Amino acid sequence: MSHHDERTFVMVKPDGVQRGLIGEIVSRFETRGLKLVGAKFMRIDEELAHEHYGEHEGKPFFEGLVEFITSGPVFAMVWEGADATRQVRTMMGETDPADSAPGTIRGDLGLDLGHNVIHGSDHEDEGANEREIDLFFDDAELVDWDLDAAEWVYEDEDH
Ligand code: RTP
Ligand code: MG
Repeated sequence: MSHHDERTFVMVKPDGVQRGLIGEIVSRFETRGLKLVGAKFMRIDEELAHEHYGEHEGKPFFEGLVEFITSGPVFAMVWEGADATRQVRTMMGETDPADSAPGTIRGDLGLDLGHNVIHGSDHEDEGANEREIDLFFDDAELVDWDLDAAEWVYEDEDH
């Protein structure tokens, strides 16, 4: 089942936590058929914020982005499934919720670029998913388990 085991890093941002959207967001990935392999409720410190958003260092919005992402708790997750990184990004919508289609997470739950509810690893940035998983989770925090429903999600999953 190697083509079903791609992992991606996903996080409900401080605005999503404050607005009570953790359950709604987890539910969307669960019902899509993805498998949760790690999750933690945590506060991002300044150092982790700089590492996580290092690609944006020097951009005009960088300091505000760091301030926002450290301003309250986040819900960090690892989800696994076929093409998981790209599928999650598609489910999230565009970076700006105002440009995001209804039906997407940002298109249904947000209105403002700076408060866009969710982060997911960039599928166009090779290896970003693995880097971000390593940054936020120890190996021991990732759970190896079989999702029994996978045989109904995937046609070619072993019965
Ligand atoms: P994220 O990394 O947070 O999942 O968002 P993303 O990939 O969709 O967008 P990215 O380009 O990585 O930007 C990171 C976050 O910075 C804020 N941003 N502000 N003012 C601006 O022009 C601007 N551009 C980006 C957004 O909050 C975005 O989520
Ligand atoms: Mg990004």
